[in-house]
Amino acid sequence: NKEDILKGKKIIVTAGGTIEAIDPVRYIGNRSSGKMGIAIAQEAAKCGAEVSLLVGNITAALPTDPHIKIYQTKSAREMLAKLQEIFPQNDGLVMAAAVADYHPKEYVDHKIKKNQASDNLTIELEENPDILKTIAQTKRSDQIVVGFAAETNDLLENAHRKLEKKHADFIVANDVSKNVFGSDEDQVTILSKNRENDVWPLMTKKKVAEKIVQLIADHLTK
Ligand code: PMT
Repeated sequence: NKEDILKGKKIIVTAGGTIEAIDPVRYIGNRSSGKMGIAIAQEAAKCGAEVSLLVGNITAALPTDPHIKIYQTKSAREMLAKLQEIFPQNDGLVMAAAVADYHPKEYVDHKIKKNQASDNLTIELEENPDILKTIAQTKRSDQIVVGFAAETNDLLENAHRKLEKKHADFIVANDVSKNVFGSDEDQVTILSKNRENDVWPLMTKKKVAEKIVQLIADHLTK
């Protein structure tokens, strides 16, 4: 069972939205609550794994399980740096965080003042690194990487593209046009290279987490 397999295994989970600072008081963020990632971390810890939980901006309560070590990683670049440091010592990574694709090109070190001369303000954005892709490219055969795909349209087509492009073992595809951010439930489809799509019914994120952790355990036994 999954407890036997996961006992002593080291798993990293990311949760919440990244924060991309504009100035000392403002940022670009998103509506991820952290619930999905936290549920996965809790389930993995319950099964005996040593969990590292990297959190960005969350509204859900942080877990207090002694087998979950929490790291605050605000921006995508911080999250990537932490993962590059710890991924080699781990057995798996689940990227449930909602990572911003862009950050403000320039960080302004004082509060930006209202421009009296114009009604407009332009903030130029620059692409963030693709964390999942960067980390999955360094993956050994004894490690597993699970990504998510959050789509509002053409769910499976876009999710399949992410599976290929990002070198993940599994992609958990969710249709986020349906209030998934912040909710307690999700309906997901599991994609992997050598298997048919596995459509899971609508269920609680806790249940989704249990099934994802089972998937990880099954993969790690192989
Ligand atoms: O936190 P909750 O409120 O519970 O909501 C859960 C959730 C909807 C945030 C979660 O289920 C989810 O779908 N997380 C992934 C959100 C996301 O960023 O999806 P994406 O399709 O933009 O990215 C695809 C994958 O690449 C994700 O695993 C993401 O973590 C990763 N990514 C994205 C961009 C980037 N620059 N680097 C990445 O690693």
